[in-house]
Amino acid sequence: MSVIIAPSLLSANFARLGDSVEMLNSSSADWIHCDIMDGVFVPNISFGIPILQAIRPLTRKVLDVHLMIQQPERYITAFRDAGADILTVHQEACVHLDRTVHAIREAGMRAGVSLNPATPVDTIRHILPYVDLVLIMSVNPGFGGQKFIPYSFDKIMQVRHLIDQMGLQVRVEVDGGISLENCREVYLAGADVLVSGNAVMGAADPSHVIQEMILRCTDSQIV
Ligand code: DX5
Ligand code: ZN
Repeated sequence: MSVIIAPSLLSANFARLGDSVEMLNSSSADWIHCDIMDGVFVPNISFGIPILQAIRPLTRKVLDVHLMIQQPERYITAFRDAGADILTVHQEACVHLDRTVHAIREAGMRAGVSLNPATPVDTIRHILPYVDLVLIMSVNPGFGGQKFIPYSFDKIMQVRHLIDQMGLQVRVEVDGGISLENCREVYLAGADVLVSGNAVMGAADPSHVIQEMILRCTDSQIV
């Protein structure tokens, strides 16, 4: 299983966002993770559709959009038009998750569903055949730079087991508190997409950290 690193722009310098995207263009990161917050679903406001639209022409990397907003179904086509490749909604923010996931795919994007730390994996069992990725939050969403919640390992293993048991090709993405220290453990638990905000974007040499994360996950010499 090849690992994908998805650096989060939330930890970038917003006054120099274009520079951060250019830097990521020449890195080994395959996806760019964009955190959208509404100040209601989470206690913070980040950036929205116009920023995504501004980033789109700067990169050919996959724009992995994580919606931490209530009623995300209202904005599906707006995010598609702004250039999102993957649109992930929270299970907790969708009354009609089935309808929303199908609408995302019908709009031409890959669909993701995310779970807050306290939401059980079983709540998405029936929707798994219709999504492209599951995003396990390993911190309470809203802020970068938080500590990884240890019971997330259990959830990563559970969801990976379920996906394999059902014979599906669904990616398992993990978001929050991922660093060089714990990336290998997260990967070995069953994740194949690692989001990283502070550990990558806050580093003196982000490209080096991305490369090192890939190495730590995939190097069979490390025990
Ligand atoms: C948190 C966001 C994350 C955040 C991760 O609500 O969803 O994507 O940027 O940042 P770190 O890696 O610093 O925990
Ligand atoms: Zn995120």
